[in-house]
Amino acid sequence: MRLLPGFLDGDAQRALLARIRALLAEAPLYSPVMPRSGKPLSVRMSNCGPLGWLSEIGGYRYSGTHPLTGAPWPAIPAPVLDLWSRATGVAYPPEACLINYYGPDARLGLHRDEDEDAKGAPILSISLGDTALFRMGGPTRKSPTRSVHLTSGDCVVLEGPSRDWFHGVDRILPGTSRLLPEGGRFNLTLRRVTQP
Ligand code: SIN
Ligand code: MN
Repeated sequence: MRLLPGFLDGDAQRALLARIRALLAEAPLYSPVMPRSGKPLSVRMSNCGPLGWLSEIGGYRYSGTHPLTGAPWPAIPAPVLDLWSRATGVAYPPEACLINYYGPDARLGLHRDEDEDAKGAPILSISLGDTALFRMGGPTRKSPTRSVHLTSGDCVVLEGPSRDWFHGVDRILPGTSRLLPEGGRFNLTLRRVTQP
């Protein structure tokens, strides 16, 4: 993985947060459930872009519409598309922007991003708000892992072999950022879904 510490300065973080709030007014955060068990994830989610990633009792899938409102996802804001171009260097746009919100007790188990046809395209992750303890593994669930703190404004690019590696969020460190008055952390994950 490629870590871009402080890729967004304070002004850029505040501007991006305002865009996220506007998106969420249209496409509200909801609590997705785990496939099979139907247990709610601790992370709340929404999406923007032509395709949004869903975790449902029947499995994971991409959808053009919000599961609760039935409306098409709002477009990915231009400044976010610009971050994608600058951070990844690829010429094609992303199709999905997953918006994760982590409250103080939220976490995300070790997983791979594997629901996309565009296996060769990079993935960009953007962090805002409280610091996350992010765990990066390797090609198998048993591969050794390394942990890094992701702070507000940091970006991570998963590209090359790391595109398919296991990763997750062990925990959020409450009170580490003042960006979100309500506390917690937003993460945007930008992905190409169809073959560019
Ligand atoms: C994810 O892997 O979907 C999100 C990672 C993060 O929140 O940093
Ligand atoms: Mn992931």
